Amino acid sequence: MAFLPALNPRLARSLLPSVVALVLIFLAFFSYTRYAPNGTPTFLKSIPGINSNSKTEPTPTIDRRPPTTHAPPKYKPTPTWAPPPVVDPFPLLANSAARPPPIPHYNMPRPNMHEEYGLERPPPLFIGFTRAWPMLLQAVVCYITAGWPADNIYIVENTGVHNKNKEGKLSLQNPFYLNHTTLQRLGVHVVQTPTLLTFAQMQNFFLSIAYQHDHPYYFYSHQDVVVFSFEDGPDNYDRPATRDYDFYDDEDKQAALYPAAANQLGYRSIYENCLRDLQMAIEKGERWGFRFYQYDHLALVNREAMDAVGGWDSLIPYYTTDCDMNGKLGMDGWTMKERRVGLINDVSTTFADLEVLYRNPALPRPKFVDPNPPSPEMQAKIDKEMAEKEAKAAKEEAARTDIEEKMPADPVAYFRILNKIGVDMGHYKYRARDVRNTWQTSQRGGQGEPFYYDPVGFARSWALLNEAGRTVYSEKWGHRDCNLVEGTALRMDDQWKVEKDWEEKKD
Ligand SMILES: *[C@@H]1O[C@H](CO)[C@@H](O)[C@H](O)[C@H]1NC(C)=O
Repeated sequence: MAFLPALNPRLARSLLPSVVALVLIFLAFFSYTRYAPNGTPTFLKSIPGINSNSKTEPTPTIDRRPPTTHAPPKYKPTPTWAPPPVVDPFPLLANSAARPPPIPHYNMPRPNMHEEYGLERPPPLFIGFTRAWPMLLQAVVCYITAGWPADNIYIVENTGVHNKNKEGKLSLQNPFYLNHTTLQRLGVHVVQTPTLLTFAQMQNFFLSIAYQHDHPYYFYSHQDVVVFSFEDGPDNYDRPATRDYDFYDDEDKQAALYPAAANQLGYRSIYENCLRDLQMAIEKGERWGFRFYQYDHLALVNREAMDAVGGWDSLIPYYTTDCDMNGKLGMDGWTMKERRVGLINDVSTTFADLEVLYRNPALPRPKFVDPNPPSPEMQAKIDKEMAEKEAKAAKEEAARTDIEEKMPADPVAYFRILNKIGVDMGHYKYRARDVRNTWQTSQRGGQGEPFYYDPVGFARSWALLNEAGRTVYSEKWGHRDCNLVEGTALRMDDQWKVEKDWEEKKD
């Protein structure tokens, strides 16, 4: 906890609860993390039989409740609509023992590429996972086929189901299902959180791993992304939620906006661009905190900056905890820049068959599927909201029918088709209000499985905690908007000391 003396005592006091939480997480993790390269914590390995894959039938529910004289509880109406069962999006891996296909040759990472960029060690990429396996698997396969070395990818399993996924005890329809075998076959690591963490706690957990394994820098990505390298060179598609880029100079701007295409001299995969961007951040000598690639759908973190501002506020569990972090970094003079290293789509859907990412020309033209299509009522609302856009899309769809159905053998030509679908997926996610996060509630099964939690209840609790976090944030800073640096004169020491800066609406 070397960062404590660096903080002033007032701040340290107000951060004490988060620090205590951090210490607890840290300690809990310490006993867990001596994980071997295959992701098996050695601590757990030493307990005989704990990792055995012996499947036991779930015991049928027996009513063990002592008798009662109270009236029976009143039940909520049964939901009239449920999403269809999810389908594993990578049949090749799910149904055979085949090795994953080879990735496009131009995206193959050169051995020890990090050394070419002056880095002693490759920084890890953390991808947190709580729910929705098809989305996670898609993100992982995207990173690998875009050229990120599988061995540098760490899936952080934050499901709260302890070793049950590792033991293969959960079924695909369980929201918390994650398949360790499949991830191992893809060559990525799985790290388990000791218990279910919130977003803020998981960020602190990434930091904790970075301390444990001595990584001064690390990347993290969300699981709801479709990511590509600049295989086709410059790309002018409009992607929702893209922010303005920060460039260091004209040459830098040129390199970011007009990248060389695959097979051309100077082509760089997204991984190589990330290493290069890290090297630049270090060499510019800036006091830098984050580098964002499509905000934090993919982000690069400087551990030193996290240190200086006391990490993430664990008491602001989900949304606005980033506003708090960015505010603290900004007030303390750490830069955050929006940079361009590849093509990142924020999505809520998956390719129907992820094998297309390996460019298999024998597969039919790719489609994307919504794991949680809107209910009929929701769909009616969406249709109304976007009657116009919809009509246009339908016309485009009709025009598309005369497109050749066969997929090209050239991986770059194949990429062009995938890229366009990735962009469409992004627009689909942002097509209407309130549909962006529906993918999180796509699976509704798992009754009777270990650590089962009612999926609808989980989603509702999440929303409540999220709202509570917004309240904590607004009281902490006396400010509600996500612009502590640009929108206020607040300083780090002001947290929890200022009155609110807005008028409560009176009616
Ligand atoms: C995990 O995936 C493998 C294929 O990679 C499959 O054989 C196995 O049945 C899956 N496990 C579970 C629990 O679904």
